[in-house]
Amino acid sequence: METLMTAQTIPTQPFDGQKPGTSGLRARTRVFMQPRYLENFVQSVFDTVGPLDGKTLTLGGDGRFFNDRAIQTILRMAAANGAARVLVGRDGLLSTPAASAVIRHRKTDGGLILSASHNPGGEDGDFGIKYNIPAGGPAPESITGAIHARTAEITEYRIVDGPDVDLSVEGESVLGGMVVEVIDPVAIYAELMGSLFDFDAIRLLFADGFRMRFDAMHAVTGPYAKTILEDQLGAEPGTVVNAEPLPDFGGGHPDPNPVYAAALMAEMFSDGAPDFGAASDGDGDRNMIVGRHTYVTPSDSLAVLAANAHLAPGYASGIAGVARSMPTSRAADRVAAKLGVEAFATPTGWKFFGTLLDAGRVTICGEESAGTGSSHVREKDGLWAVLLWLNVLAAKKMSVAGVMAEHWATYGRDYYSRHDYEEVDKAAAETLMDDLRAALGDLPGTEIEGLTVTDADDFSYTDPVDGSTVERQGIRIVFGEAARGVLRLSGTGTVGATLRVYLERYEPDPSKQGEDPQQALSQVSAAIQTRAGIAERLGRTEPDVRT
Ligand code: G1P
Ligand code: ZN
Repeated sequence: METLMTAQTIPTQPFDGQKPGTSGLRARTRVFMQPRYLENFVQSVFDTVGPLDGKTLTLGGDGRFFNDRAIQTILRMAAANGAARVLVGRDGLLSTPAASAVIRHRKTDGGLILSASHNPGGEDGDFGIKYNIPAGGPAPESITGAIHARTAEITEYRIVDGPDVDLSVEGESVLGGMVVEVIDPVAIYAELMGSLFDFDAIRLLFADGFRMRFDAMHAVTGPYAKTILEDQLGAEPGTVVNAEPLPDFGGGHPDPNPVYAAALMAEMFSDGAPDFGAASDGDGDRNMIVGRHTYVTPSDSLAVLAANAHLAPGYASGIAGVARSMPTSRAADRVAAKLGVEAFATPTGWKFFGTLLDAGRVTICGEESAGTGSSHVREKDGLWAVLLWLNVLAAKKMSVAGVMAEHWATYGRDYYSRHDYEEVDKAAAETLMDDLRAALGDLPGTEIEGLTVTDADDFSYTDPVDGSTVERQGIRIVFGEAARGVLRLSGTGTVGATLRVYLERYEPDPSKQGEDPQQALSQVSAAIQTRAGIAERLGRTEPDVRT
């Protein structure tokens, strides 16, 4: 039933710092909860991409604290700004890749995704919001820059008054002249997965006694994983653990890496471990892949998936090319070279893959930060990576350890690790980067901790499709053909700064591929720590997290 509601125009003043980072606007939940903060940003998005008259948007989030309130506010604002229809996931839930799938499948005029990804949630945690374009991917820099500029000059926002929309039941209702369509958050996504992968072969695998553990970390992927893995593919009930999305992720840190998914790691390295383990993050775009007694680094996972994608029906005709973020290891490039397809290295963040995917230049993309995906959507996709791995294992009839050994024997192994120094002093971290940047020209030829620098630069990137350029995307210090270190500051944090140090070393000899990665990387790690002066400048002798 339609209630007539008039749009109100509410005066406001700008907030400082509403600048979208690597993936949308992120801030402490309490910052987002203050009056007008969310409203200002949402109105700035609408002002930038609007007018909304007659348009349809997709809306959903990862279910973290404030998701429900934020969705009601955004619905009222979309109505006041003249949108014709908004598709919302039931209970306000949509994983990031599912939102991308809905935008594309239903051809909506973009959408808003509420999430701070892998950052902890709750009233004292983090919240975030980002706008995705009609192609389904994160808005490019040109749009996020315009949104930021708008936030600095905003004077009013529009909103309708009225009761909350009931989001617990699928179906349509009307809010101030706009249709709110509550959709099943899983259906469109699950159908897409069924079209890409050999579900029959995976069903047979499970029927043959293959055992899996999927840790949804009390985040948004639970309902997706349960439907697809347990209901559709026949994995044992209970395969998916921590399946219920909770506003504070059960107090956990929903980042699928060996540190934060420690319980899964312990199980996978125990006697009687399942054959395959996986986890996903807050909003479902990241993945962790682990076999029995075998952890697969995200960089290796990208390479293995690129090498074997043709085993899945959706990629049977081969892949057009592979893109990785620059700090991701070069393992994927070796696969591309062998396949004779293009390889690209882009700045950190999924938004840089969009043009390459749209132009059909690449099919598979990935980042060292546990993000992998393909042209099926315009976001990285955690469950997609898990399903492609299952498809590969079913087709090759091999264990994860067997697949890795075969891969390294063919391509060589890129030992890889990322060291994070979290919540360090922002000014000190910026000075560290500035000083290193200033010294780049002098570095080649110098020896540090027994390694000789052959090349050093600050990564800049020109998009090969649209010609746009970005600079200062990470300092690379290269030690010959085999080893390199990359340093950059995180663009997703909400407090202080996080220094990320990415380390890699190539080992072509199969007899030397069984080393512990931290051991294998100790020399290059020491060289970077020394040259950057991490201990003196940041007061840290050890990283907080090694992945
Ligand atoms: C981090 C990751 C990056 C990823 C982003 C969003 O960004 O490093 O690869 O795209 O989260 O998930 P950062 O904090 O390093 O800017
Ligand atoms: Zn995420």
